[in-house]
Amino acid sequence: MIISLTGFMGCGKSSVGKTLRTLLSCNLLDLDTYIEEKAGKTIPEIFKEDGEPAFRKMELESLKEICSEAKEDEDIILSLGGGTIMTPECAEIVHDKTSCVYLRATIDTLVATLTGYESGRPMLNGATDLRTRIEELMQKRAAVYEQTAHYIVDIDGISYEDTSAEIASLTGRKVK
Ligand code: S3P
Repeated sequence: MIISLTGFMGCGKSSVGKTLRTLLSCNLLDLDTYIEEKAGKTIPEIFKEDGEPAFRKMELESLKEICSEAKEDEDIILSLGGGTIMTPECAEIVHDKTSCVYLRATIDTLVATLTGYESGRPMLNGATDLRTRIEELMQKRAAVYEQTAHYIVDIDGISYEDTSAEIASLTGRKVK
C-alpha cells in the first residue's frame, strides 16, 4: 500500500518521508525526483522550458505509473508535490489508491520554512511578498488537501520523528 504525503511546499513532506522510511523500513519515492529523473531536467527547468501545464501532465502520468507498479502487500511512502492534488484526476488517484496523510502547517510556519528557499520553487518565483503568495495558494488548496487526505497531522513545532510516529500509528503500521 502506498502511504502518500501531501501538504504545502515547505511543510516537510520529503523530510518526514525519510524519517518514516527509517521507522517503517520500507521504500520511499519522491514524486518530484521521479519526474526529474524521467524528464532528465529539474523542476524549475521543466516549468521554464515546458510550462506549468506540461509539468502537471508529467505529475499525473508519473503518479499513474507509480500506483500501477506498487504492490498491495508492500508499503511504499510517496512524497507528493505540494500542488499534485490540485489536478482533480491526481486527487482522485491519491484518494482512491493511496493512504494519504496531509501534513498541515500554519501560514506562519510555512513563511518561516520557505523564506530563503523560494528559488527552486517555480510557484513562488516572482512573488513580491512571500506571505501573500502562500495565502493566495492556500486559499485554493487548503480544502482540497483536507478532502483528499484520509488523515491530517498538524506539524507546527513537532519534530519529524514525532510526526512520523503519529503517521505510523494513524495508519496502523507496526514500527520496525
Ligand atoms: C509545487 C510544489 C513543488 C513541486 C513544484 C510545484 C506546487 O513540490 O512539485 O514546484 O505547486 O506546490 P514541493 O511541495 O516538494 O516543494
